[in-house]
Amino acid sequence: MPYIRESVDLSVDLLPGHKRGLSLANPVMTASGTFGNGLEYARIFDIQRLGAIVSKAITLKPRRGNVQPRIAETAAGMINSIGLQNIGIEAILRDVAPVWATWRVPVVANIAGESIADYTELAGRLDGTPGVSGIELNVSCPNVESGLEFGVDPRAAAAVTASVRRRTDLPLIVKLTPNVSNIVDIAAAVAGAGADALTIINTFPAMSIDVRRRRPALGWGSGGLSGPALKPIALRLVYLVARSLRIPIIGCGGIMSGEDAVEFMMAGASAVQVGTATFLNPRAPLDVIEGVEEFMRAEGIEDLRQIVGAALAAPESADAGRAPAQYLHPRV
Ligand code: SIN
Repeated sequence: MPYIRESVDLSVDLLPGHKRGLSLANPVMTASGTFGNGLEYARIFDIQRLGAIVSKAITLKPRRGNVQPRIAETAAGMINSIGLQNIGIEAILRDVAPVWATWRVPVVANIAGESIADYTELAGRLDGTPGVSGIELNVSCPNVESGLEFGVDPRAAAAVTASVRRRTDLPLIVKLTPNVSNIVDIAAAVAGAGADALTIINTFPAMSIDVRRRRPALGWGSGGLSGPALKPIALRLVYLVARSLRIPIIGCGGIMSGEDAVEFMMAGASAVQVGTATFLNPRAPLDVIEGVEEFMRAEGIEDLRQIVGAALAAPESADAGRAPAQYLHPRV
């Protein structure tokens, strides 16, 4: 009979060594844009059980978002083109952050801007706000003209990260796009500019056609693909970055179950974000927590650290180990 472990430790010290740190009761966070600002879900289940909540992207001014329709279902996921609809920083600070401050679960504010000055001002306004435990820089939204601009160019990504870093010592997470030829270059650039952690990945630019109307299904034309279709892509990108850099990674992309989350952690993620699954089942993040716990019990694993990076391959030879990261990609 397999050994079933009674007690498992799900806690994650996401940023060891960081002045303020980011301690999670478990590795499961919500993905930005899939959980509102947490307030509605607080009425549905005990959100304090989550590892962390990531807010909807916050911009300086309120945004109405893109023209409808803004969501289209696909074979293994969905495409969205919300266009960063949100209530703006004023309303967040006035109406929402005071509620966050009453929660035990850490809240990370996802921020988006059109210029480095926008991001820096947003970070400055969030710095020192009770209820805000960290910032996630959204340099990867495919649904606004300026969305991907910063995230696809290492110099631009580093410049926005460095500017925000100078403005705040809050934990700083940068959310990367998969829509680049070498994600390791972007990851290295933002890590060098002061990012404390990376979220890998945001949605992948995608499209769906409404054949009856003979038009793109989404009002904005294209959108960002999320859900299970994205998972193998996200996993590979987590793996590549984890193999090349020493920076905490939060895996994101199509996580539906505890086993999906374990895959991301074995690929090198210290924590995960659950997003699209929540549209199918609002309790999905809790199910993922329970699934990770069950996996650990069944496998006799006491501590999550035994899982993180477990699948990172040792170099096949000393020469391969010394090769620059990009030459290792085809072997993954
Ligand atoms: C959106 O609001 O369009 C989605 C946000 C994102 O993809 O970052």
